[in-house]
Amino acid sequence: MSTTPDLVNFERVAIRYGRGPEVLTDATLDLPQGSFTFLTGPSGAGKSTLLKLCYLSLIPSRGHIRMFGRDSALLTNPERQAIKRRIGVILQDFHLIEHLSVYENVALPLRVSGQSRSSYNADVVELLQWVGLGHRMDALPPTLSGGEKQRCAIARAVISKPDLLIADEPTGNVDPIIGKRLLRLFAEMNRMGATVLIATHDMHLINELDARVLRIENGRVLKGKPE
Ligand SMILES: Nc1ncnc2c1ncn2[C@@H]1O[C@H](COP(=O)(O)OP(=O)(O)OP(=O)(O)O)[C@@H](O)[C@H]1O
Ligand SMILES: [Mg+2]
Repeated sequence: MSTTPDLVNFERVAIRYGRGPEVLTDATLDLPQGSFTFLTGPSGAGKSTLLKLCYLSLIPSRGHIRMFGRDSALLTNPERQAIKRRIGVILQDFHLIEHLSVYENVALPLRVSGQSRSSYNADVVELLQWVGLGHRMDALPPTLSGGEKQRCAIARAVISKPDLLIADEPTGNVDPIIGKRLLRLFAEMNRMGATVLIATHDMHLINELDARVLRIENGRVLKGKPE
């Protein structure tokens, strides 16, 4: 029997915000290394919350989360930072740095990891052209459309070739043609070895690929598309 190690493993995870109701009540899931998974469910079901747990920006109130084979509750701060560096994240509200150009936003992960501009310049330019931002490289984020910001955030998340790519509604602001192009980018990252998790309620997007589908229902994670 082949045993693909899981990159992410949730065991009976629950989470609530403050004293609010539990958003996830009993969530168990695994992301095998190299898998491509869509996460769906109605608005408010807890998709973004589950992704935040996956990229270690929230801590569960019950249950266990293993990341890259490690119990996330036992990580030291440096270990936690090291794991975060292996994760590319595309958030629903982009989180671009407003005073840096599109080019500088995308190059930032490489710059902070100590790489020189001459070593990454061609890659950054090629990726920006691929996502259709070649003509907007010098623009500042506040001057971009929603879809342009989204593509900039996607380029920044994939430029450092993360082992785990997490995207929250990555095609929510673009037209279907660009949406399909971005999906091809995620599929290409997956082909090169990245484990991909995409939260979306866009069934057209989900139907584009023959990938795993998980859904959140009543605080639990179930397999397959909604009925
Ligand atoms: N920071 C927060 N503080 C309090 N409650 C929150 C917070 N973030 C999310 N929630 C609540 O948690 C629940 C799940 O929210 P979440 O954003 O995970 O849903 P979602 O499935 O991503 O929805 P959408 O499809 O609209 O993006 C919602 O009821 C929401 O109001
Ligand atoms: Mg959400």
